[in-house]
Amino acid sequence: MIFLEKRQLDKIEGMIRDYSGIILERVTSKDISSKIHEHMQRLNLVKFDDYLTVLDSGLDDKPVLADLISELTISESFFFRNPGQFRFLIEKQLPEIFSARGKKHPIRIWSAGCARGEEAYSIAMVARKFQILNPGCEFHIYAGDINRKNLSFAKDGIYNSRALRNRVETFENLLGLPLGKRDKEGFCRVSDEIKNLVQFRVLNLKQIPSLKCMAGSDIIFCRNVLIYFSEEFRRILVEEFARFLVPGGLLCLGESECLPKDVTGFEIINHENSYCYRKPSF
Ligand SMILES: C[S@@+](CC[C@H](N)C(=O)[O-])C[C@H]1O[C@@H](n2cnc3c(N)ncnc32)[C@H](O)[C@@H]1O
Repeated sequence: MIFLEKRQLDKIEGMIRDYSGIILERVTSKDISSKIHEHMQRLNLVKFDDYLTVLDSGLDDKPVLADLISELTISESFFFRNPGQFRFLIEKQLPEIFSARGKKHPIRIWSAGCARGEEAYSIAMVARKFQILNPGCEFHIYAGDINRKNLSFAKDGIYNSRALRNRVETFENLLGLPLGKRDKEGFCRVSDEIKNLVQFRVLNLKQIPSLKCMAGSDIIFCRNVLIYFSEEFRRILVEEFARFLVPGGLLCLGESECLPKDVTGFEIINHENSYCYRKPSF
């Protein structure tokens, strides 16, 4: 295995930060060196400078660099994580949007940094139940991630018991709706009824101009993603989210996350000890 020199590590960390906003503070230099070594071997590259050239290939989209990032970051997620936020959607936010707007415009929801789709399909289950109760209500649910492998996994929609935990059963009972079919090994294949509600796409939160697809969102989930970024970039991003949300729109962050310093203007909602942030309606 190669051990990278400090200037080489700095170069790679800088490329990753510029491309994705991710700061690799939680990964040791030894782990970075080892992942890079494996990556270079897979690409049949021996010289570090050749590797840098390949990493830098592409313009807005740098697939090889994105591949390295996926090796260095954790995509841990599970269904109905932070359940109070989903209960808030069911009990308050969706009924309020629907009663104000009726069937005129679809309800737009984003899962930004969706990992392998667990969050997006949790949202879709809640949306499907709401549609059954309110025929004619339409949803546009989008889910994006920088990691293409995650997106491909999400589109397949097959989950093991670790991703399901006991949360899915609780919500299946609450909603009276199955996520999909279980097999003997405990894997669950998401039903087409739920799958068809979600559109997955590549999304790099660092490319601010490309985020305009989020404009007009009623709800943005960006949970356990901001932790990867600098304080400054978190603030920039949350201010963008505030612009993209419609008045009265909702931002859901992760359980251990809060609004970045200096971001004002959101109403803080505490629902069963889960927090959401609402953009004022006026
Ligand atoms: C820990 S997972 C969070 C998954 C899910 N939101 C949740 O809370 O369970 C973090 C995800 O953020 C994604 N991510 C990191 N940087 C990103 C960026 N610049 N743009 C889009 N996604 C990013 C990672 O690929 C990973 O899938």
